[in-house]
Amino acid sequence: MNVTDRNTRRLHIVTHGCQMNVYDSARMADVLAPLGYSTVDSPEGADMVIMNTCHIRERAAEKVFSALGRLRDLKEATGNRMMIAVTGCVAQAEGDILLKRAPYVDMVVGPQAYHRLPELIAQVHRGKGAVIDTDFPVEKKFDFLPDAAAPQGVIANLTIQEGCDKFCSFCVVPYTRGAEASRPVAGIVAEARRMVAQGTREIALLGQNVNAYHGEGPDGRIWSLARLLSELAEIPGLSRLRYTTSHPSDMTEELILAHRDNPALMPFLHLPVQSGSDKILAAMNRKHKADDFRRIVARLREVRPDMAFTSDFIIGHPGESDADFAATMALVRETGFALAYSFNYSPRPGTPAAGLAQIADEVKNARLYELQAELRRQQDAFNAATVGLNTPVLFTGLGRHPGQIAGRSLYAQPVVVDSPVELTGEIHAVKITQANPNSLLGTLLDKEKIAA
Ligand code: SAH
Ligand code: SF4
Ligand code: F3S
Repeated sequence: MNVTDRNTRRLHIVTHGCQMNVYDSARMADVLAPLGYSTVDSPEGADMVIMNTCHIRERAAEKVFSALGRLRDLKEATGNRMMIAVTGCVAQAEGDILLKRAPYVDMVVGPQAYHRLPELIAQVHRGKGAVIDTDFPVEKKFDFLPDAAAPQGVIANLTIQEGCDKFCSFCVVPYTRGAEASRPVAGIVAEARRMVAQGTREIALLGQNVNAYHGEGPDGRIWSLARLLSELAEIPGLSRLRYTTSHPSDMTEELILAHRDNPALMPFLHLPVQSGSDKILAAMNRKHKADDFRRIVARLREVRPDMAFTSDFIIGHPGESDADFAATMALVRETGFALAYSFNYSPRPGTPAAGLAQIADEVKNARLYELQAELRRQQDAFNAATVGLNTPVLFTGLGRHPGQIAGRSLYAQPVVVDSPVELTGEIHAVKITQANPNSLLGTLLDKEKIAA
């Protein structure tokens, strides 16, 4: 193969699921870049297509098979030269079934094996049929994956923890991502520094259970998330920090106080509670009660009065009665969320709750409808309450219309303002003038200064 060939391999990556998959997709592109692969926006004519999949709910997993059907036609159009890889949580959970149902797939790679992609591609080229790598290897993929190569943008994610040992009754993550593991502090700080040098100003630390973080520090001791956050806040030019997703039972007082003491830490927390009923929380194996969640919210509001919350809810877990659902609605009304995600319970193969008597779809749908109406009301109220406020906005780039620039509020709300100049990467005071369902409009308060 000559040098031109090496430089012209086209890689298309489709990403489903959570932010962790988004981050992993970028790392897979980085690991394949030295092999001559550069990413393209369309699968047509690509040399390699990676489908990075999600298994969290049935509908997410089914999407994979319909998308694969379309890819098969594109593969045939390339004379079967296109290599198809399925990665992510469906690959991990259903690798064998996948190869049976879609024999034109060349490669099935689980989330802990991405650093082995170059070797797996070589195996496919050697031509002995499809390869599958869904082991949880002893080596840690983060010790082998390159750090982010391309600039990640003003707002970027950084994975610090992966896997989960909690085994909630409904959830596939402990099976697809493996045991909880934290990256050492030094590697995280080095990666964050490189990101900031390339223009990143806000970093969201990612982990399936990010607040259970316990990574090895440079002093040889185990560092908590709060300690890591205060180290990261020292990086000049890194203005904002977030972390997601947290579990209520790992919400320590130290971490709560970080929201008071660490000015870079945003007053915004995604804290999935799933249900407001203690009976259902116990059935879900969530290891906390509804009142524990209430206490955490109250304590955070005490130390940081402008704190706002988002959450996740599951409706219709086996055993959920009308009274249990009413307890969830009561918790929602009491708390007042900035935003929340809610889902009908979806039985997942191999998880404990899948084998129990199921709630009828009509019941689930009616409850979900009621919950979502309340959550929509709360989200609108939260956004409406920002009108008239003077709030700092981190600008990320141009807006959709000429003369507009776009950024994010403290609560990650998209904000659009008219501006004579681009302010990418800068934080400026904005007076919010209008709240739309999914974005805010405002005016720059230091407009004259900026124009001059
Ligand atoms: N680690 C996070 C959540 C990871 S999964 C936590 O502990 O909260 C993201 C969300 O998907 C969950 O919060 C839950 O609300 C939802 N989810 C997970 N499994 C589900 C299932 N089987 N059916 C419906 N929703 C589910
Ligand atoms: Fe899934 Fe529960 Fe682990 Fe979250 S804490 S990833 S819901 S098992
Ligand atoms: Fe989905 Fe796996 Fe993330 S199941 S939500 S892609 S951890």
